[in-house]
Amino acid sequence: MANMNRDGFGSRFGVLVAVAGSAVGLGNLWRFPYLVGNNGGAAFIIIYLLFVILLCLPIMFSEFIIGRRTQANVFGAINKLAPKSPFIIIGIISVAASISIMSFYSVVGGWTLEYIFKSFSPQFLTADSANLANQFSGFSSASFMPVVMHLLFLGLSALIVVAGIKNGIEKYSKILMPALFVLVLLLAVRSITLDGAGAGIRFLFYPDFSKITGETLLAALGQAFFSLSLGMGCIITYGSYVNRKENLFKISLMTAAADTGFAILAGLAVMPAVFAFGIPPGQGPSLVFITLPQIFAQLPFGNLFSVAFFFILFIAAITSAISLLEVIVAYFTEELKLTRKAAVIIAFTIIGTFGTLSSLSNGVLKDVTIFGKTFFDLFDYASSNIFLPVGGLLVVLFVGWRMKRADVLDELSSGGAVAVKSFVFRWVMLIIKFVAPIAITIVLLNSIGLIKLF
Ligand code: TRP
Repeated sequence: MANMNRDGFGSRFGVLVAVAGSAVGLGNLWRFPYLVGNNGGAAFIIIYLLFVILLCLPIMFSEFIIGRRTQANVFGAINKLAPKSPFIIIGIISVAASISIMSFYSVVGGWTLEYIFKSFSPQFLTADSANLANQFSGFSSASFMPVVMHLLFLGLSALIVVAGIKNGIEKYSKILMPALFVLVLLLAVRSITLDGAGAGIRFLFYPDFSKITGETLLAALGQAFFSLSLGMGCIITYGSYVNRKENLFKISLMTAAADTGFAILAGLAVMPAVFAFGIPPGQGPSLVFITLPQIFAQLPFGNLFSVAFFFILFIAAITSAISLLEVIVAYFTEELKLTRKAAVIIAFTIIGTFGTLSSLSNGVLKDVTIFGKTFFDLFDYASSNIFLPVGGLLVVLFVGWRMKRADVLDELSSGGAVAVKSFVFRWVMLIIKFVAPIAITIVLLNSIGLIKLF
């Protein structure tokens, strides 16, 4: 076996926690609530859920299949299965998307670090939204601290990635995910029981489909990909470390369930409070950083809760960040034959630079725009709304049309260890070959105005 010395996950629980650790992150607790707020609430959520079940699950199977089959990084994987094919563009998109996502993700990761420190100060928590909004914009538009925090967040992620799979990624993920769940649940309960929370609950659960536009559809699709870590080889890369015997269906289902549960719970923690406190829901990226401290202000031992929450949010963010970095590092080490350390240093330098631009674009560089977007918004938008859907589209086309059907079945059944009923397999193939590619294409064309559904 050529891969004998390749690192891998140590246990089934380890795989699950690491994949769930990649999926659950700022996407659930920061991005999902603010997109729900920007896109009119319940209708967005329903479309999001449909996309998760119908499109994202098959894409997740597909990525796992490619990764585990080849036990290689994204470039290596595509090359092994289809030498010299144009599908190698999946590799290019993966590395580009990883850099693009990290260039705003680690800035927001830096904000969570700052908010851990802020939470110790007695003046931080207040029942006054305007004050909290000012504290946030004052901090995030500064030129020094947010950049330092971004580099600190990125540096810590880099250190974990250098340590490798078993000793790094797996070990850190195991402990903190369950703790995060308990804390968010607690916040959701407090939020729902606030006076005036009803309007927020209505916003989350009563759909108004007249608010749906092509952009909303694309935002929901992009967010579904983003939240489940799909469309840029992240699951291909993690899949390559998964043991031959694991059931890929099961891992995918459990990951999607955990991730979606976290997102809905985050919505329940944020939106009722947003309405109860009279904060405008369409705030954008600052939303959680204004809303949650206001909930903490209403809890006994609020500062303590606040420290705990932002600490765990930071951990959730870092378990996702390492999965993004791992895509670049696996490519550098296996294809370009760099050492792990050199690969991480190069990734740190590139993302450190772009991330600094994106952090400064909330302040001194706010007037520098490309396609009408600041650096921060551009990285955020391009990642989820272009790179991930296009990457996901290519992945399903690859597994559906380029890979051998027998190989796909062999992976889904873990070499025969898992019984896959033939009608289930046919159904999965139907979605992978036709439904998913067509649906993604329609959403993409609709958003650029080439076809008009909404
Ligand atoms: N899913 C993570 C989150 O919700 C972010 C993330 C990790 C990601 N790996 C990814 C997003 C790969 C897209 C692709 O925070």
